[in-house]
Amino acid sequence: MEHLFDTLYAAGAERLSFAPDFTGRAFVLRRQRGNLLVYASRRLAEEADGLLAAGPFARQYINHHHQAMPSCDWACENLNAPLFGPERERQQILAHCRMGGGFADHEAHFADFEVVATPGHTAGSACFLWDDGRRRYLFSGDTIFLTEGRWIGAVLPGSDRLAYLASLALIKTLSFDVLVPSLAKGQPFHQTSARETERHIDAMMRRLEHGADG
Ligand SMILES: [Fe+2]
Repeated sequence: MEHLFDTLYAAGAERLSFAPDFTGRAFVLRRQRGNLLVYASRRLAEEADGLLAAGPFARQYINHHHQAMPSCDWACENLNAPLFGPERERQQILAHCRMGGGFADHEAHFADFEVVATPGHTAGSACFLWDDGRRRYLFSGDTIFLTEGRWIGAVLPGSDRLAYLASLALIKTLSFDVLVPSLAKGQPFHQTSARETERHIDAMMRRLEHGADG
């Protein structure tokens, strides 16, 4: 496992075939009441020793179906981390791996961990908010990802641009200190302030309103 920052750890860093300049990672949220694994990686099994040494896991969360992969079954079987993902994408997820449970809207799954539905990139896309007691982390998947510190979106041919814009407006109202996307070029997380978050998201929204893809 990579210790990235404070209580934030990453595992399974991998080059992405669809975006070779970017690195994808799963993140380990170390918690007294069971670690959470957020996102997915094809390389988790290579880091089995480190993951098992991190203490017991409670669940794995993916924020949309693009992260569904057979290694989610590996995490369920070897880390006792059943997979949770968006109910709206259950069928697409089940084509790759099993699900232990799902989410649909704005839901507190633990006192320190909330799911916020942010459709647009895909119909079921969500963000996760985690409060580790010191800082609030927003796990944005690839609804917002990082390229050398710049915040970028991913409007695909099947994306819903209007829903995406509404979700960005919602994310702007969330209070968080650290953005942690599922893929990044350069530093894999970004410490931010309310003002900086507003500036980055306003710039994204302007680009999407003008027809850009990200
Ligand atoms: Fe995606």
